[in-house]
Amino acid sequence: MTDQHTDLAAIVESGTVDVPDFPKPGVVFKDLMPLFADGPAFRQVIDGIIAHHGEGSFDVVAGVEARGFVVAAAIAYATGTGVVPVRKAGKLPRKALSASYELEYGEAALEVHEDAFIAGQRVLVVDDVLATGGTAAAALELVERAGGTVAGFTVLMELAFLKGRERLSPRTVHALLTV
Ligand code: PRP
Ligand code: MG
Repeated sequence: MTDQHTDLAAIVESGTVDVPDFPKPGVVFKDLMPLFADGPAFRQVIDGIIAHHGEGSFDVVAGVEARGFVVAAAIAYATGTGVVPVRKAGKLPRKALSASYELEYGEAALEVHEDAFIAGQRVLVVDDVLATGGTAAAALELVERAGGTVAGFTVLMELAFLKGRERLSPRTVHALLTV
């Protein structure tokens, strides 16, 4: 583990507030809004993600609604790439591809416009948190079904006990902080 990695993990940790019993009893919600609101910390985190993957290694950034949008837009702006929003079901105005994933009770779906990517375009996929991996699995599947090539997948925080990384195997997961 490099010093830079350690620094970024500490930055993410100090920008996160644990909220017990949200959204329901027994769940500890990881609130990264303080990190997003801290300009110097947010910039270091965004720059760290870009450095990890290497500027020039991706053509576009796909962010997962809603919190992934914050991360995706910042990376895209800093690298002069674009953003493709991976949206929750029913929000996109044109023909879209859909992938469903399980929630604790029931199902949800993510969608992306079918023409969102140029064939073979290298796509960096980002979100704030990796928990069970259901959201990420759906987002990554959609990128490929829409013709993109996954160039990397990064989250700010990984909740290891929920085994999202195992679920996504053999894909590589880059997490700034693993708890
Ligand atoms: C949260 C989080 C990740 C996802 C991770 O999003 O932002 O996207 O859950 O969970 P998983 O790995 O178990 O799928 P959520 O859908 O709660 O809402 P958001 O719109 O606030 O991002
Ligand atoms: Mg989310």
